[in-house]
Amino acid sequence: MKKRTSPKGLFDILPYGAKESWQTSHLWHEIEDVIRTITQQYNFQEIRTPIFEYADTFCVGIGSTSDIVSKEMYLFSDKKERSLALRPEGTSSILRAFFERNLTHLAKVHKLFYIAPMFRYEKPQKGRYRQHHQFGVEVLGSPSYEQDAEVIDLLFSFYQKLGIKGLCVELNSVGDAHSRELYKKALFSYLSPKKASLSKDSQRRMEENILRILDSKDLGDREILQNAPSILDYLSPECKEHFSGVESTLRALNIPYKVHPHIVRGLDYYNQTVFEITASDLGAQNAIGAGGRYDGFAKMFSGQDIPGIGFGTGLERVVQTMVAQNCPFREKNAPFVFFAPMNPSCRKLLIPMAKALRLKNIPVDIDLKSYKIQELLRRADQIGASFAVILGENEEKEKVIRCKQMSSRKETVLPLTNILSYLEQAWEERS
Ligand code: HAM
Repeated sequence: MKKRTSPKGLFDILPYGAKESWQTSHLWHEIEDVIRTITQQYNFQEIRTPIFEYADTFCVGIGSTSDIVSKEMYLFSDKKERSLALRPEGTSSILRAFFERNLTHLAKVHKLFYIAPMFRYEKPQKGRYRQHHQFGVEVLGSPSYEQDAEVIDLLFSFYQKLGIKGLCVELNSVGDAHSRELYKKALFSYLSPKKASLSKDSQRRMEENILRILDSKDLGDREILQNAPSILDYLSPECKEHFSGVESTLRALNIPYKVHPHIVRGLDYYNQTVFEITASDLGAQNAIGAGGRYDGFAKMFSGQDIPGIGFGTGLERVVQTMVAQNCPFREKNAPFVFFAPMNPSCRKLLIPMAKALRLKNIPVDIDLKSYKIQELLRRADQIGASFAVILGENEEKEKVIRCKQMSSRKETVLPLTNILSYLEQAWEERS
């Protein structure tokens, strides 16, 4: 029979048996728990949007010359020939939902977060997939530079809470539209005499969107770019003041950062502050998270001038970094009690007992397959239960039950009527 596989660039997250250890679900749960804790600490609230939207929702701000829109969107038509796209990034969807539901009037500042799958038709490689998951935040309504610093601080603290080391915040400003126009002219003058030496992609970008050349990974381009003018020298006085405000607030928060004037980001909606956070041990795709301010974006969407700033961090890259750096993961959740009935009538007796403990929020598993003691005990070990509770024909006759503490292998024989209170007490007293 034909072996079915998932499409290229996709992967499953499994409880066990995963192809690579970072694809194991309990590692993801830990990260998701930290997301919920940290977003609560910074007072962010969750937003969930559909995984597909009308395609033009993503074209407004990301930009038609960006890789995401021009090459990477999963586009399809529905039965009524409407053009739809699988969500390639979160910010556009969040703004669509925000204005569709007219949330503007419900608060002055909106602090939203999401954990969601994104889809991009990219060349799959380590750290780059066709479905990836992002933890992202978007703050709408706050223009201050302190807001930029708070968002960067949240992302940095999230990585720190997970125990990730070797972090580097790379910071830049892409200024406002006027500053960018001045800079584009300067960059054009600098690159024009060198055009023939640039890569084919960069030659094309000179006409389409010259700032993207700064993002080029081509070694020849990188060498030429070393002496390129810096966008920071073309910022308006307001943009300069905003940028130095971000810097001073980051210093006050003890967030180490480096100014990197070539970071422009691959999406058109950014203005002013942009940033990337890299981590050691991640390989070529070392941007673990990135974001920036997008003050003009809301206006393109709705006509309303609402400032925004946010970030997205790829959870695949987060888990991979944690695994590569041997970050401490907590133990996988295990049932406290494993019930091992050794015949059908014992099984009937133990099923309601398992339910009684579960109603008290005690995690319980019960074997409903085998009646062989060795198999049952092996399974109790495998799943990491603290107690195995064994009931066979003899115990049933004598109205007792065997309770084995798995760590010490110590076995206690108890009257059948006492087992629930015994286990409840052990649960209360667990360290
Ligand atoms: P982005 O830089 O395109 O920004 O993606 C954010 C993060 O998602 C990246 O730093 C990376 O960790 C992860 N990522 C992106 N593409 C892939 C992929 N193919 N495979 C694995 N991980 C990937 C955005 O998406 C913006 N919406 C971020 C933002 C939010 N800016 C403001 N608000």
